[in-house]
Amino acid sequence: MLSNKKIILGVCGGIAAYKAIELLRLLTKAGADVHVIMTRAAQEFIAPLTFQTLSSNPVHTGLFDLIAEREIGHISLADRADLFVVAPATANIIGKIASGIADDMLTTTIMATKAPVLFAPAMNVNMYTNPIYQDNEQKLRRLGFLFEAPVSGTLACGWEGEGKLTSPEAIFEAAVTVLADKDLTGRTVMITAGPTREEIDPVRYISNHSSGKMGYALACAARRRGAQVLLIAGPTALPDPAGVKTVKVTSASEMHTEVMARVAGCDVVIKAAAVADYRPQVRSSNKIKKNNDSARIELVKNPDILAGLGMMDRGSKPGPFLVGFAAETDGLAENAAKKLNEKQLDMIVANDVSQPGAGFNVDTNRALLLFKDGSRCDSGLMSKDLLADTILDHIVAQLAKR
Ligand code: CTP
Repeated sequence: MLSNKKIILGVCGGIAAYKAIELLRLLTKAGADVHVIMTRAAQEFIAPLTFQTLSSNPVHTGLFDLIAEREIGHISLADRADLFVVAPATANIIGKIASGIADDMLTTTIMATKAPVLFAPAMNVNMYTNPIYQDNEQKLRRLGFLFEAPVSGTLACGWEGEGKLTSPEAIFEAAVTVLADKDLTGRTVMITAGPTREEIDPVRYISNHSSGKMGYALACAARRRGAQVLLIAGPTALPDPAGVKTVKVTSASEMHTEVMARVAGCDVVIKAAAVADYRPQVRSSNKIKKNNDSARIELVKNPDILAGLGMMDRGSKPGPFLVGFAAETDGLAENAAKKLNEKQLDMIVANDVSQPGAGFNVDTNRALLLFKDGSRCDSGLMSKDLLADTILDHIVAQLAKR
């Protein structure tokens, strides 16, 4: 997600400096080339060697470092950066930048850069609510600097309140969003995700192994790329993605109702959910007791939500770009092509769930993408996050042809 991106991670002196280690790990794992600048105070909390080892790059600590200054280090870092992330950002660094003070490596480099700068503040609640700090933050926001707000909690100083550094994951997500192409701006994308549950009685249900990871990865990726995202999710263990309108459902019938009620105005619908094809004909209101050696549950077919969308009368309009998923264990291309035609889709993402590293409950996937015009493309094995962006790349290209 961040390959070919050069990120400068500024670390200031605060107890939350240890969380910058996890942030660095997330950034490098996503492929970024990260260069760390530590203030003098930051070095009282963490040794530069930790950041150097994890970033595989020298850590910059002093403005007058002789080796770095051979190439005027602060200017060269400022010029080459795609993004600056300052985490934790103290009241001191924010005050200095707001006042135009450049007296160390971090402040000088930030003053010299044209790259976006994202601050993740962390400080005592009284410092955070101090009007001097708030004025400085407002001034920087007006000038285009970005902030990932601190959260409330117990602070290291013993106070309760706002000022706690937000999670490394939230800062990472904000950084990825800043750097993403905004090629879905102005588009509304509906995504369904996860399994559905079809209740047998108050304690039992029929479901499947879907974790929802693929659909959630698509929702996050579409939001980063500027889309308005509506996520209709069956039961999953995943947290609601930030910035995405998430509607929780349980059964296929509920998913059907929510999708149909919200499809008007959508430019793209991606049906990544593993919808149960059948539900019990009768849901017993009492727990069914075991009496006999065998039991029978009569099942009836659920509505095929995707096929319903494909058959919708769109009048003269092209209607939403419809993307289906096909989870198969054999005959991948043939079965997927059949679904593409029968459900009148624009594109289908087919995966062979019997293959290692693909399908349910893993972080990777491999998909065969088939299009209405007969073309197809094999994604190869990749993370679900990367596959989400690959799928969206194809959708953006197809939308441009409409
Ligand atoms: N789907 C749907 N409503 C259903 C069943 C499936 O919208 N009642 C959607 C899924 O979200 C997915 C696509 O249809 O995008 C394909 O689902 P899949 O279960 O693989 O295919 P089916 O058409 O149900 O066929 P089969 O189970 O026989 O493979």
